[in-house]
Amino acid sequence: MRLSDLPLPDAAARRLSRLPFMAPPSPADTNRRVLITGGASGLGLALATAFLERGDRVMVADLAPAESRPESIPADARYLRLDVRSEDEWAAARDEIDEVWGGLDVLVNNAGIAQGGRIEMLTEEDWRLITDINLLGVARGCRTFVPMLKKQGRGRVVNTASLAGLVHPPTMSSYTAVKAAVVAISESLRWELEPFGVDVSVICPSFFRTNLASSLNSSDPAAAEFASKLITRAKLDADQIAAEVMLALDAGEFLILPDPDARKNYRAKRLLPAVYAKTMLDMGRKFAAATGKN
Ligand SMILES: NC(=O)c1ccc[n+]([C@@H]2O[C@H](COP(=O)([O-])OP(=O)(O)OC[C@H]3O[C@@H](n4cnc5c(N)ncnc54)[C@H](O)[C@@H]3O)[C@@H](O)[C@H]2O)c1
Repeated sequence: MRLSDLPLPDAAARRLSRLPFMAPPSPADTNRRVLITGGASGLGLALATAFLERGDRVMVADLAPAESRPESIPADARYLRLDVRSEDEWAAARDEIDEVWGGLDVLVNNAGIAQGGRIEMLTEEDWRLITDINLLGVARGCRTFVPMLKKQGRGRVVNTASLAGLVHPPTMSSYTAVKAAVVAISESLRWELEPFGVDVSVICPSFFRTNLASSLNSSDPAAAEFASKLITRAKLDADQIAAEVMLALDAGEFLILPDPDARKNYRAKRLLPAVYAKTMLDMGRKFAAATGKN
């Protein structure tokens, strides 16, 4: 049996992460104040557009300096420069948001890079870079804005992890490690912040088409190419993922699996571990056969 043959119902699993004994989701109100990191491209940009279409106010944050605001960003969004590696820039972002909006309703920690590599080829520098952006970038965002959200007594933290944070394919251990950590941070904060009226969600999509492949470094060109193909040849694009994420946020979901591949793989790992293991093993063997002993 292959993963694609699994006869698992999809609709029920979409609501897996809703808990009836927790507070109901806030109504899908409009005019929310939303900060999205990595919002100039891909999923961040698609989410920015989707929030704006709902009537929300959006602050896009990304690497370009404020005076060279990327043209991709919708005119009705605000923009600020925020490298998620910089504590100072996080503090400046909080000050700016406090000044222009007097608070924040939704923090979307979305900025991230891709990385592929066999374990012996990933360098110390590779690990430090992806940890600094994909993991510590999320932690810094939470540390910076959680006090504001707690003081307000309401708000939502949305962290973009990945299906790779839940299921861990071969040749991408640094990426799966930091994304698993983002899932873990999100769950801890879910229990920690619920008493303060602050909700948490974590987005775990499978591969979808964005500019993410351009951030792949080449310490292991074969693994980078493997990961790049998974992104550039994916069936869904960022707008489709963002549309599903918005519905899941409306429903107050914690674990957001926005596409059928993500739902199927995650369920297979938990419910059909042998099928899951065979799929991962086949992937590892295929990669090993293609690259030989190098
Ligand atoms: N595309 C996929 O297949 C996929 C799958 C699962 C999860 N994700 C995750 O989705 C998120 C968004 O990625 P995407 O696919 O839209 O890629 P993308 O490359 O299109 O967008 C990423 C954005 O993050 C920004 N960024 C990178 N480093 C930054 C930093 N240090 N500080 C601030 N901004 C920075 C980039 O400039 C870019 O605008 C990432 O966290 C990624 O890991 C992507």
